[in-house]
Amino acid sequence: MDVTRRGFLTGGMAFGGLFATSALPAIADDDPSLFPGRGRFERLSLTYHAIKAGATKPFTVLHISDTHLTAAYPDEGEFERKTAYRRIRTFGGRQEEALRDSIAWAKEHVDYLLHTGDLIDFQSRANFDLVKKYYGEGGAMMFGCLGNHEHYRGKKMAKKDGTPIVPAVVPDLLKEAYPFPNDFCSTVINGVNFVTIDDSTDTVSADQASRFEAEVKKGLPILLCMHCPFPTREIVRAASRFWPRTNLKAIRDMSNFVESEKYKDATTKDFVAYLRAQPLLKGILCGHGHLNVVDDFSPTAKQYEVAGNFMFCGQEFTIS
Ligand SMILES: [Fe+2]
Repeated sequence: MDVTRRGFLTGGMAFGGLFATSALPAIADDDPSLFPGRGRFERLSLTYHAIKAGATKPFTVLHISDTHLTAAYPDEGEFERKTAYRRIRTFGGRQEEALRDSIAWAKEHVDYLLHTGDLIDFQSRANFDLVKKYYGEGGAMMFGCLGNHEHYRGKKMAKKDGTPIVPAVVPDLLKEAYPFPNDFCSTVINGVNFVTIDDSTDTVSADQASRFEAEVKKGLPILLCMHCPFPTREIVRAASRFWPRTNLKAIRDMSNFVESEKYKDATTKDFVAYLRAQPLLKGILCGHGHLNVVDDFSPTAKQYEVAGNFMFCGQEFTIS
């Protein structure tokens, strides 16, 4: 397909329902000859953090989240094609470039790459193919968890004649596409246990809580990795201004903020109380809010929320 950069920037890709970012031409910013004075990775916006967890040997991790890939093949359904059309305009169409830069940076500069969810914006064959491709490129150094958008297939409404707009969810697609157990996983790196969970409904299940307790019994320092942060004060305060439509109350008066009221269920609330008393918990790595916020969580752990990878953001950790 012959699409110029100018054509793309002025909406030239908006035809025929083809909005696969994978099908985009190499966009100019990928070509260093156009901006020869710019360093290869200058579009990346990284913040730097150190966690003294008690590793057997120090190592580094690039943490990214919320890439929100928006691909759909021309032969996919109405939901996939329309959502791709709409959402590429939300995220800017450079999500794959951002992901490629992040993977390249990680390969050159750090030991591991962690993606804490919303790698895709909605379920489509094209998006799942990209998931396989980029987890494949990341290779053994890349691991992660799911976010709420990994589960997104639109509202399950039916048209007036009763035809569902969205086909039935196929959960196996998630299992197939992502190279890790979706619900709960433990990965030990240099004596530090990365526990990755799917908390994309803003809740932790009883099963996840009890499996976490089993991980604690291993006696290793733990970094909990999940998509949605726990609603601690500074994370809620930042989100309330960034996402005002959903949090007007919080904007008006943070003095009324009561964290415990923010939990959707007792299991999650109890789990948070348990976590706060766990000296082995050394940090929580999460995304979802599209903001960089570091907030206190417990005497031994902070929550590190990373801004959207679709805007080339990431956090680099030195873990010792
Ligand atoms: Fe999210």
